[in-house]
Amino acid sequence: MESIKSRKITAIWIITILTLFVVGIVLGIIMRLNQAGTIVQSPVTFYVNMTTHGLTMIGIWFVAGMAAINYLMDRYVKTSYTVNVIALVLTVIGVLMLWTSTFIGKFHAAWTFLYPLPFKVMWAQWATPLFLISLTVLGVGWLIWSLSLMTQILKKYTISQAFAWQHLKKNPKVETPPFILISMITLVGIIACLIAAVILIVLFFAEYFSNGAFVNDALLMKNLTYFFGHTIANEMLYLGLAVIYELFSEVSGRPKWKTTWYVSLAWNFTLVFILTAFFHHLYMDFVQPEGLQIVGQLASYLASLPAAGVTVFSVFIAVYRTKIKWSLTNLLFFIGVAGWVIGGLGAVIDATISNNVVLHNTLWVPAHFHTYNAMGNVLFSIGFFYWFSTQFTKKTDSKMFTKLTLTILLIGGIGFLLAFYIAGADSIPRRYSNYPAELSVGAPLALWGAIFATIYLIAILIFFLNISKRCLKILFSPS
Ligand code: HEM
Repeated sequence: MESIKSRKITAIWIITILTLFVVGIVLGIIMRLNQAGTIVQSPVTFYVNMTTHGLTMIGIWFVAGMAAINYLMDRYVKTSYTVNVIALVLTVIGVLMLWTSTFIGKFHAAWTFLYPLPFKVMWAQWATPLFLISLTVLGVGWLIWSLSLMTQILKKYTISQAFAWQHLKKNPKVETPPFILISMITLVGIIACLIAAVILIVLFFAEYFSNGAFVNDALLMKNLTYFFGHTIANEMLYLGLAVIYELFSEVSGRPKWKTTWYVSLAWNFTLVFILTAFFHHLYMDFVQPEGLQIVGQLASYLASLPAAGVTVFSVFIAVYRTKIKWSLTNLLFFIGVAGWVIGGLGAVIDATISNNVVLHNTLWVPAHFHTYNAMGNVLFSIGFFYWFSTQFTKKTDSKMFTKLTLTILLIGGIGFLLAFYIAGADSIPRRYSNYPAELSVGAPLALWGAIFATIYLIAILIFFLNISKRCLKILFSPS
């Protein structure tokens, strides 16, 4: 069972994440207004905002998923409170160092900091090492946290039970809850990509301190960067799915979901394919061996289909012709699954080699990943935050409040995303601070995006006030 300490630290995580989210969205709106020409900022400021926004968003929605599974995992195994605190402290220190390197040092090599950009210093000299150290602090904190959670699972379940292999045969003696299976699969992927990040940073530092004696291989660095970046961005979604498998039926007043042979098979496939899908980021790197490009395309399809298939099937079966108890929590989960699938389809379209020739590095890319983040994973986590915050307070919100907030969220989210999709389909490139005359259609679409993003922000602020108020009560209540 969860303890008071784990309740309080989860409340701190939630308030921290929501505060950083509001800042992140404001940076996003400022970027869109700049692209629209409504405000005028220097390209350096734009790229500082873009780098800070990208890394902050990836970081907070990763830790949101981790904090949620940590809290729920206490139902099955005992987790370490100390490690949870260490992860929180290192995350806060890491984010402060990162923001110092970007906002003060003006480091602006994007969230992918693709080699050799960090060495093409167009910012304060100290900003590059500080940026790399900030990633080290974050990476070490998260690696310790992931390893600790995985160790706790393995103290209770054998390896084959943690991966639910016994469910591939009839009548298994031990049942692995879907929550444990998905958490385990996801933690393996997270640990693998965090180790890649550590190797990447070591290689960066080796070159930095070698005074030109050691030069990295650019293709290896790009492979490592995308193995880390693509994988963590996807795994954080699966953390959200673990939460849905645990809570959807519970909050809907339905029997708990069980692991079946196809759930076990699908998630085990996901583990393999998610680790090789990143090759689709290197389609335009013609020195990459051709076989890996084919692996990239196949894995992109195979990674998304099994997990999406069984999750959509499970959610569909749970709601189809069944009277369930709808609340803000399962509505957010439901809309989030839809956003995840739509964004996933957008990703698969882009990951198809013949389409990628046209869509590569256009606004189609932020279109699809913002769909499964801003209208997918974020909603999984906010669903959890809301559920958590109402666990210890008697009063829940009126139907009117739920309807109103969700309507604002949907209008804002869909409008914001459409502006990205339309621009992407029209070949407007991503990561332009201003659009030249040849791409002038990008500017009005950016303004449209900014207006709808502001509507989305209003919904988030309502959630923020509602959830943080309850979390503060949890934090300061004696028991
Ligand atoms: C309404 C909320 C949001 C707004 C207004 C917004 C806006 C933007 C804009 C304008 C860009 C630059 C697009 C370009 O390439 O031209 C961007 C990039 C990005 N956004 Fe968001 N965003 C929002 C939410 C999110 C969320 C929830 C995530 C979660 C992961 C996220 C992650 C990213 C990432 C990773 C990048 C790429 C940064 C880079 O290229 O270095 N954003 N966003």
